Amino acid sequence: MQTRKLGPFDSSAIGFGGMCLSHAYGTPPDQETAAAVLHKALDLGCTHIDSAALYGFGANETLIGNVLSGRRREFILITKGGMFRNAQGQREIDGRPEMIRKNCEESLQRLKTDVIDLYYLHRWDKRLPIEESVGALSDLVKEGKVRTIGLSEVSAATLHKAHAVHPLTALQTEYSLWTRNAEVAVLEACRELGIAFVAFSPLARGLFGGRLRDVSSLPPKDIRLAMPRFQGEHFAKNLSLLDGLSGVARESGCTMAQAALAWVLAQGEHIIPIPGTTRLDHLEENARAEQVHLSPAAIARLNELINPSTVSGARYNPTVQQEIDTEEVVLR
Ligand SMILES: NC(=O)c1ccc[n+]([C@@H]2O[C@H](COP(=O)([O-])OP(=O)(O)OC[C@H]3O[C@@H](n4cnc5c(N)ncnc54)[C@H](OP(=O)(O)O)[C@@H]3O)[C@@H](O)[C@H]2O)c1
Repeated sequence: MQTRKLGPFDSSAIGFGGMCLSHAYGTPPDQETAAAVLHKALDLGCTHIDSAALYGFGANETLIGNVLSGRRREFILITKGGMFRNAQGQREIDGRPEMIRKNCEESLQRLKTDVIDLYYLHRWDKRLPIEESVGALSDLVKEGKVRTIGLSEVSAATLHKAHAVHPLTALQTEYSLWTRNAEVAVLEACRELGIAFVAFSPLARGLFGGRLRDVSSLPPKDIRLAMPRFQGEHFAKNLSLLDGLSGVARESGCTMAQAALAWVLAQGEHIIPIPGTTRLDHLEENARAEQVHLSPAAIARLNELINPSTVSGARYNPTVQQEIDTEEVVLR
């Protein structure tokens, strides 16, 4: 696979997001299937494996540690802390230095490694200045527990403040045809500062794959059920966007998922999409998206079809939205 700069690393242009192997969408696959997907990702040349303490409340890191520790040198090991399961079994955001350290040490154990290549603060804990949490990440670098650091879902202003404390390797934020908030300021801020922009949920949490047509079939724990864009009339309107996407994909000789990924790749050389999947066929399809060339006319057509004025509904519900620190695009 072609590579893109990720701080001191050369990352495959398309990375792999591990979340749905343990958490989030539908029912997670069994361990054997999940292991086959992880091995296949490396076999296909994907060198960017993304996890978090949050995913499966540690289960995703344990899976990656168990399955890939024998292939540790073949990939960039990436995980996140500062959002995790607390002692009451609830999801919690806590960016205090002592908690970041505890999270990191637990992740190292689960991942069966002595150093994490890129360690993100999963969410800025707004009770503290960002400088304090980034200072804690910087200490982990000095101690050799992590090689480089990054942030997730922060504004350009926060990014600048953090980068002044310790150089950041990456900002990970949602970005796709249907989530354009990063275009307000952070894509440009990353480019200026030499920070890689890692685009999560590049397939609109599965919508652009075209298989999810009926949300009533999703199990109650599926996190999409709590997202306005997957609810009621919003979902019906958003589904109708797929007609245009499939037309552009057909004309470009690729699938809808590949067109959506190729669009992300075309938005800047510093952008690395990290689709997730539980299926070997989808993994191959996604990896091949780096070879898809979208013409300027195809890109213009996609921008016209899927943009903040054609997408219906907010990406998060108001409670989760409060945890985010991005310049938001106001949707209809
Ligand atoms: N920093 C953060 O706060 C944050 C938040 C969310 C996610 N992330 C990271 O970003 C990664 C990706 O996010 P995501 O999982 O939401 O990404 P996504 O790629 O937008 O969505 C994944 C969904 O798309 C489906 N899919 C994937 N490839 C497909 C294909 N070729 N055809 C049809 N369907 C396809 C998958 O279903 P199948 O299993 O059936 O393929 C899965 O349900 C996560 O794994 C995680 O590492 C970070």
